[in-house]
Amino acid sequence: MKIAVVGLGYVGLPLACAFAEKGIHVSGIDVSAEKIRLLKKGKSYVGDIKSSIVKKAVSEGLLSPSTDFRNVQKCECVIICVPTPLRKTKDPDISYIISSCENISKHLSKGTTVVLESTTYPGTTREVVSSVLEKSGMKAGRDYYLAFSPERIDPANKKWTVKNTPKVIGGIDSASLKKACFYYDKIIENVVPATSLEAAEMVKLLENTFRAVNIGLTNEMAQVADKLGLNIWEIVSLAATKPYGFMPFYPGPGLGGHCIPIDPLYLSWKMRSLNFYTRFIDLASEINSAMPAFVVGKLTRILNNYSIPAKGSKILILGLAYKKDVPDTRESPVLEIITELLNLNADVSWFDDLVIGGSYPGKRVKELSAAALKSADAVVIAADHSHFDYDFIVSNAKIVFDLRNVTRGKKGKKIHKL
Ligand SMILES: NC(=O)c1ccc[n+]([C@@H]2O[C@H](COP(=O)([O-])OP(=O)(O)OC[C@H]3O[C@@H](n4cnc5c(N)ncnc54)[C@H](O)[C@@H]3O)[C@@H](O)[C@H]2O)c1
Repeated sequence: MKIAVVGLGYVGLPLACAFAEKGIHVSGIDVSAEKIRLLKKGKSYVGDIKSSIVKKAVSEGLLSPSTDFRNVQKCECVIICVPTPLRKTKDPDISYIISSCENISKHLSKGTTVVLESTTYPGTTREVVSSVLEKSGMKAGRDYYLAFSPERIDPANKKWTVKNTPKVIGGIDSASLKKACFYYDKIIENVVPATSLEAAEMVKLLENTFRAVNIGLTNEMAQVADKLGLNIWEIVSLAATKPYGFMPFYPGPGLGGHCIPIDPLYLSWKMRSLNFYTRFIDLASEINSAMPAFVVGKLTRILNNYSIPAKGSKILILGLAYKKDVPDTRESPVLEIITELLNLNADVSWFDDLVIGGSYPGKRVKELSAAALKSADAVVIAADHSHFDYDFIVSNAKIVFDLRNVTRGKKGKKIHKL
């Protein structure tokens, strides 16, 4: 058996490694020559995948990284994991799906199973993927099998991984569903069949909209609590003592990453084309995207209480990534916080040792020393990385503004919370 994984990023690389770990040959295809170069050397660039895993898979010949789409020809199953971002206008950008399918279509063989994993609006696999793949002269359901399976990977989650997170699969017909389930069964403990491609596509959007809306609700409650002089973290944790009918969601500086800020907008775009307005999605997006401004507003109020004007204040931001324990800065609301503070002429620096390379606003601090903490007027804890020493941070900072409640249990007038 040989599988091709097209797009070796946060989703594709762990998937390719999961097949290789089961002794299945994987042809890993990516347009990034740099990523292929690293993989060939046995180096991983994805946090959840250790370089030793890539090295073993490559040296045993189980993972063959390449930029060459001709390798598709030798594979029984092709899984597409390319990006699905938004355009500047916030409309879906499915150009990566189209371009990867154009390349696949040139080398597609009869009887191959093609699965799309990229998150997208309902209808993409049937309308876009199958019509581009038709350039091969083959028809989905007649000459090759076609399925959609949403990826549910949660970077840095040690408990729920590719293997033990149930996987929903929808096929263009029952034979395609059966074929796709057969391949995923090799690596996934629990494969869950859906009745159609569109149902499987919609599942992912419901899941991520559920998170976006509930985080939006909690972020609004954080602003309500702030106005009432209450601690939102206490309110959420007290509500969470109810054993039924409540699920805790936590406030923060806003949404980030490649999924939650983006995926619901794929659905709202699709629905606008059907003259239906998804008000929950739009409202949550509005509230969540206003959180960086709320954070900056609250920080200026805190500074004001110490007679420090925002202009010229020295602010040290801890954590640039969009969430705990990942190096991923895509859509990170922290970048917007830094930009807004720079617009106020604050002197902003940041520290995040997980983030390698890149060009970011503000000054990068290479070491989180006592001197760096002491020299800042305020230290903002933006991403709650596990390896940060919060006792050290609190004891050396003049003012702490904690956006993640990592200072719970610590007392002192200088600690302020979102
Ligand atoms: N990152 C997550 O946590 C996550 C979770 C669930 C679902 N998803 C979804 O999975 C998809 C992939 O996300 P990701 O985070 O892995 O993205 P990524 O940017 O980390 O990886 C995508 C890879 O595809 C490659 N690529 C781009 N165009 C290509 C082409 N035409 N042919 C071959 N390779 C190409 C890129 O070079 C990159 O290596 C997206 O639709 C995303 O919404 C992501």
